[in-house]
Parts: sequence; C-alpha cells; structure tokens
Amino acid sequence: MKKPTLRFLIFFSVMALFFEACSSPKKSNETFETTPQDSINSTEILTETDDLDTFQVQGNAIAKASFKALSGKLKGAVQSGGIASAIQYCNVHAIPLTDSLSRVYNTEIQRVSDRNRNSVNALSASDSVVFADFQANPNQDSKVMKYGENILFYKPILLKPLCLNCHGELGKTLPEANQKVITELYPEDKAVGYQIGELRGMWKIRFR
Ligand code: HEC
Repeated sequence: MKKPTLRFLIFFSVMALFFEACSSPKKSNETFETTPQDSINSTEILTETDDLDTFQVQGNAIAKASFKALSGKLKGAVQSGGIASAIQYCNVHAIPLTDSLSRVYNTEIQRVSDRNRNSVNALSASDSVVFADFQANPNQDSKVMKYGENILFYKPILLKPLCLNCHGELGKTLPEANQKVITELYPEDKAVGYQIGELRGMWKIRFR
C-alpha cells in the first residue's frame, strides 16, 4: 500500500479546480482494475486504524471533490429541465460519474446507504458496521478502516434542504410529481422519508 505523496496532492489540487467548473470528468488513461467486493473475506475483522491520517486527508479531499462534481451536475440538470429531468439525470449518470472519478483518483468511490434507491448502493456487511456507528455517533467526521488488504474511508452524507425534493417525506416535503417519476425508475426505492440533517448515506472510498 503506497502512502499518498506530494505528487498526489499537487495532482489533487489540479483536479479539484477542474471539478469546480462542473465539467465532465476527463477519462484518465490509467486502467482501473475492479476487485469484486466479494473477494474480500467478509469474516475478516474490521479494525479501526489510527496511523493512517494521510488516507483520512486524501479520502476527505476525494469525497469533497466528488460531492462537488455530483451536486454541480445535479443543480445544472434541475436548472435546465426541472426536477423530473434531474431525477432521470441521476438515474443515468450518478454511477458512471462516480466510476469515472474512481478512475481519475485510482480508488473505488461509492455512495452507499441502508435505505438505498439504487440496489447497487446497498451496504455490504462491513459497511453496515460503520453505518450503525455513524448513526449512533452522528458527530463523527469520517473513519479510516483497514479491511484485509484494503484501506476503506467512510464519510457520512447528511440530508440538506435541496435533497428533500427527491428524498423527503411524501405529501410533505417530497412533491407527488417527483415521487411518481422516482417510483417509475426505481420501483424498489427505499430512499424517501428523510428529514434535514438525517444520515442519508456514506461516501465509501476504497484505496488499493
Ligand atoms: C433530482 C432528484 C434528486 C435530488 C435533488 C437528490 N437526489 Fe440523491 N438520488 C437521486 C437518485 C435518482 C438516486 C439514485 C442514483 C442511481 O441510480 O445511482 C439518488 C441516490 C442518492 C444516494 C446513493 C444511495 C442510494 O440511495 O442509492 C445518496 C447518498 C444520495 N442520493 C444523497 C443525496 C443528497 C445528500 C442530496 C442532496 C444534496 C440528494 N441526494 C439530492 C435523486 C436525487
């Protein structure tokens, strides 16, 4: 496992500027080999590490840039076509966007949740342990864990006012018209009924 270097930090600063502009992420030429999550032995003990501050810094930076990229795209989609088209935008682009950021940073970036809208974003057994901990202690900023050969970074995603449009309470903060589009695209949706400040999910970044 390589420690983050100064080169990374410089590279990161450049990428952060790039994403601030909300333009499409450039595909890097680096190949990203995905290791299926299943290849990690789920019985392996998940341990909290305290000697991995650099991963904490790096994870926070990547989560911040990814949030900026996603929310920039989301706002753009709302402005150009309204909420319904923004829902469709998220449906088609949210995962490809985090996947392309994963290639840029040579990590695996995901947003996971216990009440996921897209089944791809469900919690793994080890994610559930961390999620429960964030729920019990909501003031934590982030966590770095060693999991087998991997370093995992987790950061809570809290619900903001804008999010109510698509994750709020039906008939109250979530308009019915939006709910209709959501259930057409996601018949198994679990990601509604949230209040501002609630734990909506977590960033999960796997360093290789
Ligand atoms: C325009 C509608 C819309 C808005 C506004 C919106 N989301 Fe979502 N959100 C979605 C859709 C659609 C998905 C499923 C994306 C996919 O298929 O990958 C999703 C997925 C997610 C996920 C991944 C877990 C899951 O449920 O699948 C998280 C976390 C999330 N949203 C958080 C937020 C937060 C935080 C905000 C506010 C900053 C927000 N969303 C605003 C539509 C929206």
